[in-house]
Amino acid sequence: MSQWYDIAAADSLPPGQCRSVEVRGRRLALANVGGVFHAMDDTCPHRGVPLGAGYLDGQRLFCPLHGWEFDATTGACVTRPDRPLQKYPVEVQDGRVIVELEA
Ligand code: FES
Repeated sequence: MSQWYDIAAADSLPPGQCRSVEVRGRRLALANVGGVFHAMDDTCPHRGVPLGAGYLDGQRLFCPLHGWEFDATTGACVTRPDRPLQKYPVEVQDGRVIVELEA
């Protein structure tokens, strides 16, 4: 069964930025791509560093350690297509970013 969780104020993450958030003991990378929020696993499938500490170029999310590239809108790993990130549904309600996770 899934549930929606409040993870951030929408105005706390401007377009073009990303950061790590923690919810229910799980770490997610939250990215604002042109005003649309995307949430995905925060752990880089290469060596496990937080992708929220990486940087965005458009919808391209780059790992801060070795530069693996991901598509923040789909979770696809461009560098290693066999290592995609799990994406999570995101909405904005009343100025808050909420994410849907399995309870
Ligand atoms: S730890 Fe992410 S690319 Fe190496």
